[in-house]
Amino acid sequence: MSGVDRVLSCADNALRTLSGTYVASRSCPAPVDTAEAELAPEQRRLSAALMRVNHVGEVCAQALYNAQTLATDDAAVQRQFEAAARDESDHLAWTRRRLQELDDRTSLLNPLWYAGAFGIGLLAGRLGPAISLGFVAETERQVEEHLQSHLARLPAADHASRAIVQRMLEDEARHASEARAAGAAELPAPVKLAMRLAAKLMTRTAHHV
Ligand SMILES: [Fe+2]
Ligand SMILES: [Fe+2]
Repeated sequence: MSGVDRVLSCADNALRTLSGTYVASRSCPAPVDTAEAELAPEQRRLSAALMRVNHVGEVCAQALYNAQTLATDDAAVQRQFEAAARDESDHLAWTRRRLQELDDRTSLLNPLWYAGAFGIGLLAGRLGPAISLGFVAETERQVEEHLQSHLARLPAADHASRAIVQRMLEDEARHASEARAAGAAELPAPVKLAMRLAAKLMTRTAHHV
């Protein structure tokens, strides 16, 4: 793609992500016969808050992967990021649908999260393929940990949310190992810490807003 095409493709991604028009290419891992009525109101609210956080994470994943694809000139890395972003768009569609099923909404701050993550992705992408892949590997590793913590917190009766989070966790682990296999650099400890703090700010806020 030419430079202009790539910028237009990014703009298209931003609009689709924020308007919720992504359709999953893989079927949702949630069981079809989920008994929603079994969730008490308090459990439903907790599930919705956690799935809203996860939806924000996927909004950020779209922004990060698309910005990094735009910022790198390495064709192999671009293909790898595009493939991961396709998995992330399934996650985006599944978490959004689950929020609707739980009668709740996505974060009001999604445009802000998208813009912030896009800026970080552009910066990481400009630092070269090894750093860019290193950023992906570390992000996906932290997301994997975060999703593990959600599996511990989601109500046991919420089979649908749990199945979605479990599948996302498997995909994120694969994205991390693929990035490492492609030559990801190990990021400095202060950068990893800064990423952790930024993620904490995002998850704490998205739980409520
Ligand atoms: Fe994801
Ligand atoms: Fe991922």
